[in-house]
Amino acid sequence: MSEKDLPSKSERSGLIAGRFNSAPGEDFQKFSSSLSIDLRMLDEDVDGSVAHATMLGEVGILSLEEAERLREGLEQVRQEIRSGSWQPTDAHEDVHMAVESRLTEVVGEVGKKLHTARSRNDQVATDVRLWLRRRLDAMDAVLVQAIEALLERVERDGQILMPGYTHLQRGQPILLGHHLLAHIWPLVRDRERFAQARGRVDRSPLGACAMAGTPHPIRRESSAELLGFSALVENAMDAVAARDHEQEVVAACAICMSHLSRMAEELVTWSSAEFRFVRMGEAYATGSSIMPQKRNPDAAEIIRGKPARVFGALTALLTLTKGLPLAYNRDLQEDREPLFDAVRTTLDSLAITAGMWRTLTFDEQRFESEMDGDFSLATELADLLASRGVPFREAHEVVGGIIRWCEEEGTDLSALTPEHAVRFHPKLHGDLSPWLSPRAAAERRTSRGGTAWKEIRRQVELIRDGL
Ligand code: ARG
Repeated sequence: MSEKDLPSKSERSGLIAGRFNSAPGEDFQKFSSSLSIDLRMLDEDVDGSVAHATMLGEVGILSLEEAERLREGLEQVRQEIRSGSWQPTDAHEDVHMAVESRLTEVVGEVGKKLHTARSRNDQVATDVRLWLRRRLDAMDAVLVQAIEALLERVERDGQILMPGYTHLQRGQPILLGHHLLAHIWPLVRDRERFAQARGRVDRSPLGACAMAGTPHPIRRESSAELLGFSALVENAMDAVAARDHEQEVVAACAICMSHLSRMAEELVTWSSAEFRFVRMGEAYATGSSIMPQKRNPDAAEIIRGKPARVFGALTALLTLTKGLPLAYNRDLQEDREPLFDAVRTTLDSLAITAGMWRTLTFDEQRFESEMDGDFSLATELADLLASRGVPFREAHEVVGGIIRWCEEEGTDLSALTPEHAVRFHPKLHGDLSPWLSPRAAAERRTSRGGTAWKEIRRQVELIRDGL
């Protein structure tokens, strides 16, 4: 577009038109507007402005009446935009300018005083931190729900015997509760991770202004306190430039999503005809448009797929600040789409995860029948020899020989009679049947963190105490 074709100056947001002769080109206006995304921070933006106006009144930059007039006006604008009775346009550029220009229409001249000792740079930084703080509280609540759902399964089904896997090959008999706890603990750590990230989100940038601070006698502590922030971002330049708190939250989302996807993958495999350990609840299963028999674990598959976008969001946010000069740069408005999407996706995935675990059913018989005739008791025999004084490496070798013999004979460990056993090693004497029971083998693993039921119970209590 050439200069003479540009829309007239009256099309430019009145708030910042002073030095221009015309409005930005329509194409650029659309391209540069962040309104459609940052309107989601309407509440945070209004809350931030209310706190700022109150602080300006407290320190005497505004009269108390002016501050009150601004607060009333801001609440009216909040309602108008919420209800749609007043609609901002891309000419406003973003939510901050939309709110402020409508405010000035509503309250008149005094509206123009709100932006004293403030910039959109500290405004946007404040809004995002407020938005994140709320979502992190929701994140904690939904993480607790998911943990609860899994703990209930441990309490209800945790004593089911199952093969424990390494390399997706059967390793040793364990209790299902032990396996489920190995999914729960990562979620417990996710809670810690989000809580720590929240601590760094919870600092107020408001009053940093464009980057240099202000000559006006503001009190940043005061607006911070009104907004419930626990501390301030100390340096005004850092306050408007930093996005590491966003990256940290999304990193925590990414890690959490990777945990959820491991669980989800297992539900997909376990509900297959090959495993049949699990039947998904109808609320979280779908059918096929062509194959009438299908009961597909779509919810789990979608959760398995969602990390793709959250990892993408993390890459986007890291890339956004890499090599970016100080302080605020317009590039930074690209942070919101990936940030909002990653947080929303993680919140939703956690809620669906909780629902899936609440409604699925385990097939106890399938689990236990899988234990017949496999070699997952081999370690138990080696441990028996070791407990009778045979060095473990030697015991390992002896039991390896027994397994080889079983395979050659086409049989399993139940074929190992006492007469046979002593031929492999004299210390394999006596009745071996207590050592050839998968349940007994699981229950004997009472070491801290082992698969014995008593250890499972202890961990459940420990996790419950922290909820
Ligand atoms: N819309 C901008 C953003 O979302 C707000 C800050 C604009 N500041 C500026 N100096 N243009 O990041």
